Formats: sequence, C-alpha cells, structure tokens
Amino acid sequence: MENEQEIVVRVKRFNQEKGEWWQEYKLKVDRFTQMTEVLRRIKTEQDPTLAYRASCHMAVCGSCAMKINGEPRLACKTLALDMVKKYGSNVITVEPMDFFEREKDLIVDMEDFYSRMFKVKPRLYPSKEVLEGKAEHRLKPEDQRELWKFEQCIWCGLCVSACPAVKIDPQFLGPAAHAKGYRFLADPRDTIYEERLKILVDSAWRCTYCYMCFNVCPRDVEPVTTIKKTRAHTKFLKERTPVAETGERHIEAIEESIRETGKIQEASVYLKTYGVLGSLIDLIYAFQNGKLKYALIKEEKVKNIEQVKKLMGE
Ligand code: SF4
Ligand code: SF4
Ligand code: FES
Repeated sequence: MENEQEIVVRVKRFNQEKGEWWQEYKLKVDRFTQMTEVLRRIKTEQDPTLAYRASCHMAVCGSCAMKINGEPRLACKTLALDMVKKYGSNVITVEPMDFFEREKDLIVDMEDFYSRMFKVKPRLYPSKEVLEGKAEHRLKPEDQRELWKFEQCIWCGLCVSACPAVKIDPQFLGPAAHAKGYRFLADPRDTIYEERLKILVDSAWRCTYCYMCFNVCPRDVEPVTTIKKTRAHTKFLKERTPVAETGERHIEAIEESIRETGKIQEASVYLKTYGVLGSLIDLIYAFQNGKLKYALIKEEKVKNIEQVKKLMGE
C-alpha cells in the first residue's frame, strides 16, 4: 500500500530454557501503526511464540511498558514510524523493562512493583461518619487541582524501571509508590495522615533527584514532584529517622550558604550536612585523588548579596 514502509523489529527474546537472544522480524507499517500493533502482527502472522503484554491499546491499562530503542515507553503510545523518524533508521529495537525479573520475552514479573505500591496503602481511608453514610466529605476544587495530576498513574512500572535509586537502596519505595502515597497524604478526606508520614518521609529523602521518573512517565504524573512535596511534610513527623534528619540538615545548609554568599558552596554544605566525622571517608578519598584542594576553595560572595537576602525574605 502507498505510504507503507518496511521496518525491521529486533526483539530481545528470553525464556528460562534458552536464556536470551535477539530475533528480527520484518513487516510493513504505515503512519498509524502503534508498536503494540507491530507486536500483535508479528505474533499472529509470523511467530506465535513471541510473548508480550498489552490490553487497552490506549495508554490506560499500563500493561505494554517496555524499552523501545532503549527508551522506557508504552508500546501503544509509540508509533513505529515516529521511532524511525526520530532515530533515522528503520531498525527498531524492543526489549523488556529494566530492573524487573524477566518471565518470557517482553513480559516481566511485576510483583516487586505491586508490593511497593501496596506498602503505601493506595486507597482513601475516609472517616467513620463518611463510611456509615452519616456525613459527606466533599473535595474543594483547589484540593482536586493539587491531586489531579498525581491520580493519573496507570501502574505501568516505567518510572521504577528507570529509577537508579530503587536499584541500590532497598529502603526506597520508588517513584510510583511515592506518587500514589502523596496523592493520599495530601487528600483532606483521608484519616491516616500520621501513618502515611511514617511510611513515606524517610523514603522520600532517599531519592537522588535524577528526574528519570519525570522524563519517562507516559501520563505526566511527575513522581519526583510528589517526593519534593512529601519532604516538606518532614516537620510534621514526630520521630524523625536519621535519613530524614540528614535531609533536613542538608536543606538548612543550602539555605545558609545562599544567604551568606549567594551561592551553593558545595564543600561547606557537605560538611554542615554530614559533620566532620561523617565526611571523613569522602575527605580521605578526595585527598587520595588530589581533589581536596577543590573542596577548600573559598568562593567569593556574589556582588549583590543584599538582593539575594531580600529575595529570601529578610
Ligand atoms: S528522581 Fe528520584 S524517584 Fe525519580 S527516577 Fe530519580 S531517583 Fe528515582
Ligand atoms: S508514575 Fe507514571 S511511569 Fe510511574 S507507574 Fe505511574 S504512570 Fe507509570
Ligand atoms: S496497552 Fe494499555 S497502556 Fe498500552
């Protein structure tokens, strides 16, 4: 057909018996062909052994999350020819999401993802009066505006698969769970605020602010924004954990540095955050690698420091 173009789809296959291998398929697509349609046609017309997940084909169910040309994406929200145009090649690679255990081909085990989500109690806990039908608790428009964005998560797992912090820190809940947790933490109808603080605050300080979750989320949920907002609730937590305390000290040190010099003086911020003893290993490392001199540089104040102070409300 006119306007059709041949593409080569390189799929990273996997099964328990054979392990991993790459397999190529050729087919013609047009400008409307989604990557889920590509996979469906490969499966029905060329290779019934290919395994992948998809259901709604409209970015709602979250089941078609995978890597396409190395990018964490929803296959149904990705047009084959858009990838050809973006990468200047008719070869498109398809792989399972990172981080999760592979089951078969593009299907991964989502158990880890679901357990993170359920840890944050992902539902509203309304008051007894509301549950008994004796009262109605309506959400104000401004509250709805705050929550709306964070309600759009479809549990696809892309943000978790792309997050470096979940890979190295078992105490970190991960971006999707934080988005879900904050959505209820900020809901005025919810009744377990204290409990949610205990679940979320320590973990929120374990995020590295790399913004990968922000970049890959197909629903623009902005999990990292919910993590920032959750950190602002630290002051309401009765028993702070060492991680949350360090985080708060870090913020105070940054604020002090900007107030005094108009700049973030990395070395003094680091020392004020971790203390001399806490910084010892890094100081030794810096010394051994000839980098201590950079830590000792005393930076000049910015010229108009009074304006900086004014901006900071002094
Ligand atoms: S910003 Fe935080 S939550 Fe998001 S991907 Fe990076 S480390 Fe993970
Ligand atoms: S926050 Fe976005 S990327 Fe993460 S699971 Fe939800 S919809 Fe998917
Ligand atoms: S098939 Fe449902 S989100 Fe892609």
